[in-house]
Amino acid sequence: MTANSEQIDYWNGEAGERWASYDDMMSRLLAPIAELLLEQLPPGGARAALDIGCGGGSQSLLLAQRLGANAKVTGVDVSAPLLEVARRRVAAIPEKLDFLQADAAVYPFEAGSYDLLFSRFGVMFFDDPEAAFANLHRALVPGAPLLFCCWQSLQDNPWTWLAVQAALEHVPAPPPTQPGEPGPFAFANPERVEAILDSAGFEAINIQPQPVTLHWGEGETLADKVRELVQIGPVGRLLADQPPDVRERVRESIAEVMAPYYDGESLALAGRTWFVTARA
Ligand SMILES: C[S@@+](CC[C@H](N)C(=O)[O-])C[C@H]1O[C@@H](n2cnc3c(N)ncnc32)[C@H](O)[C@@H]1O
Repeated sequence: MTANSEQIDYWNGEAGERWASYDDMMSRLLAPIAELLLEQLPPGGARAALDIGCGGGSQSLLLAQRLGANAKVTGVDVSAPLLEVARRRVAAIPEKLDFLQADAAVYPFEAGSYDLLFSRFGVMFFDDPEAAFANLHRALVPGAPLLFCCWQSLQDNPWTWLAVQAALEHVPAPPPTQPGEPGPFAFANPERVEAILDSAGFEAINIQPQPVTLHWGEGETLADKVRELVQIGPVGRLLADQPPDVRERVRESIAEVMAPYYDGESLALAGRTWFVTARA
């Protein structure tokens, strides 16, 4: 199996298509996290930024807007369906953004050609993160800033942990994962993240906990919102091959455990992230 092939297949298959079809919802859900992250941008901005694992590009657009007129953002992603969304999203302003379908871990970026490395939840999927970050380090000018966010552990993220627990009343548990395995929670351990960045040549590494609140779903009722929530993340993976009646029972159980977090309008669920900064 070649490097990252499992994730590349995942993000180009049914899951990538599902993300692409829910990208508008996801972009609104995650916009506040992008805004918080962008507050950490060092003064001085950037002229050529990389957005790794850019997905549908909503945060690439926010980054480009924040960096101003002289900056160009290149979004890099392995997922054809998500890049299609990204290209459509920014069709009107091609001079500010471009998108590259590539595995960021191994793509031969021109050395020293970018002055900012950015990512919102897009860098936890590499089979060999040390080598991937070393590759990204080469792409940066010396001293260029790195800024990304990643999730703390599954158990520290009630927005998905509550749903996973409710789902497991109805579906078999997936095979146990090893800590650090590629996936949304691979960077849960900040000491590991620091060691990866250090071995890749980054300096001044800073990792701060950042609690977030996720206002889930665009539907009107709690049931509508849960229907959206089960499309994405670990629960989406758990339900991918389940028949409609099992999905229905899972949704009912999730709605029950999430009822206390729904005020009649908003389903507000807690999440915990790490905000990571460093310099090349
Ligand atoms: C959780 S999504 C985040 C998307 C986007 N940054 C956002 O915040 O909406 C993770 C993204 O990383 C991408 N990805 C996974 N492995 C990658 C790799 N080796 N190189 C580039 N992108 C990758 C996936 O295709 C997916 O779009």
